[in-house]
Amino acid sequence: MVVSVARPETDADPFAADWVADPFPRLAEIREQAAAVYFTKWDFYMLTRYEDVREAAADWQTYTSAEGVALTPEINYAIDGSVLSLDPPEHTALREVLGPQLAPRGLGKLRAEMADYAHELVAAQVAAGEFDAVHAIARVFPINVVADLLGLPQEGRESLQPGADAMFAAFGPWGGYLIAHIEEMAAYQEYLNGMDDREKFLPGGWAEAIMDAVDAGKITELQGLRLINGYLTAGMDTTVNAIGAMLRLFAERPDTWKALKKDPALAPQIFEETLRWHSPIVGFFRVATRDVEVGGVTIPRGSKVMLNFTAANHDPAKYENPEEFRIDRNPLDHLAFGYGAHSCAGQGLARMEATTLLKALTEQIDTIELLGEPEASLNPIVRGLESVPVRVTPVAA
Ligand code: HEM
Repeated sequence: MVVSVARPETDADPFAADWVADPFPRLAEIREQAAAVYFTKWDFYMLTRYEDVREAAADWQTYTSAEGVALTPEINYAIDGSVLSLDPPEHTALREVLGPQLAPRGLGKLRAEMADYAHELVAAQVAAGEFDAVHAIARVFPINVVADLLGLPQEGRESLQPGADAMFAAFGPWGGYLIAHIEEMAAYQEYLNGMDDREKFLPGGWAEAIMDAVDAGKITELQGLRLINGYLTAGMDTTVNAIGAMLRLFAERPDTWKALKKDPALAPQIFEETLRWHSPIVGFFRVATRDVEVGGVTIPRGSKVMLNFTAANHDPAKYENPEEFRIDRNPLDHLAFGYGAHSCAGQGLARMEATTLLKALTEQIDTIELLGEPEASLNPIVRGLESVPVRVTPVAA
């Protein structure tokens, strides 16, 4: 028998700077308080336990994306009809458009070119000796990979990463971080608004494939443009910060770097554990389509619910000593890519980017040393990094 308890709630603000800077102790308290806790300041329930978050992500009938995956109505309006904010079957049709490109066979065709680019990028930094791993690598490699895949011109790419970062922040409240980055968001929107016809895209890219689907009547023009926008935004800041977290880890934990150098085959599991441990995307929202009971708490129909992936990935009921980075954990069931119908469409690409970059790093770098204090960003939705200054030594010729 399930006994409903009075609504567990808190007046804490999970988007405030002090929370964002150090979320894990607070998330642990919320996780212990109840399976679903109501945040009075922002009017939503948060799920933090691994099993509950996974179950909710899998159950789109109960937790719809179609009524908004962002906190504010303005952003939900702006992304209405995008791949993120539709339920099946409309959602399935949009996911199918780039299905072949993102399937293993499609990705396999990119491998050689991506490896050359990674090698070249790392070689330039090894020659410099000292650099900021965030600015010189993490913010460069994934941005150019995704922009090249979409077929975007070189011109204007400097607005992409700052703009995508601000866009992610916009999934949370109209708060300090977003307001401080509103110009970056405006520049990004201007860039996207300029990408309004197929002539602007380089031939053979994903954007052209999306426009072909529009011409074939499979999706509407607006859906096509939102799809381009969606893949671009989702593909940048996420991978940027996953790679940044890994580079920071190597600089702070030479044992991990040495283990990878000794056995480069560890690259995939180091990336998976980084995704679990760092968890770049805090979470997205859903709306409950019915009264739903979670661990004795009834979430009323129509409530906004945050699926907190970061909290789920640090649930001690799922992962022993979750705050510890363990090279041998290989947590393939982490929720950093979400789960269910909306699970990350680009996860194969992100994994390929990370392992390709790790290969280029281990082949050319002998040691990595931290040169100063790493600086984290306070983006409330993406756990980001501003700076990781490092010094590297090259492998002996
Ligand atoms: C480490 C890197 C990445 C992380 C941590 C990540 C994380 C996520 C998460 C948590 C979701 C779930 C959204 C939800 O449940 O509402 C998602 C969806 C998505 N991701 Fe990623 N992502 C990454 C890389 C990428 C890349 C490289 C691309 C493409 C170029 C991409 C494209 C997408 C798209 C299109 C969706 C929407 C899927 C849908 O709603 O059906 N992501 N991602």
